[in-house]
Amino acid sequence: MEKTAKALNELLCDLNVLFTKLQNYHWNVTGKDFFVIHKQLEEYYDCVSKEIDEVAEQIATLGYQPLGTLKDYLENSQISEASNLKVKPESIIPILIKDFEILLSKFTQIKEHCDNEKIYITSSLMDEYLSSYSKKLWMIKSLTV
Ligand SMILES: [Fe+2]
Repeated sequence: MEKTAKALNELLCDLNVLFTKLQNYHWNVTGKDFFVIHKQLEEYYDCVSKEIDEVAEQIATLGYQPLGTLKDYLENSQISEASNLKVKPESIIPILIKDFEILLSKFTQIKEHCDNEKIYITSSLMDEYLSSYSKKLWMIKSLTV
């Protein structure tokens, strides 16, 4: 169970950094597709906000302590922050594709581990995320073809 809590805490860190990064892009994106990308980024961070709470409460439900400081999040996230700079959609999209792929890989690893350990509540949460991020990835990749 401890390994599951550690993996979930690392995921919590990724999600918190991603949340801030998505807001940063939402505020700093510029260009002719501004309205579409600005709005889409808000949809993404609203979704991530909900997932942050779900993952933290999943950790608590398993009897462990969710990480709760920005220092923890930055130190343990595989996803990196964005800079405080104006940015074009064509720069944001490949970065978000990579970040969503990082998350999908983590969901899969956590699910496989949880299935082996019969921790089905966490496994089923990962199913939801696998489904939602696979769809997000398909849609965002469609922007670049
Ligand atoms: Fe806004």
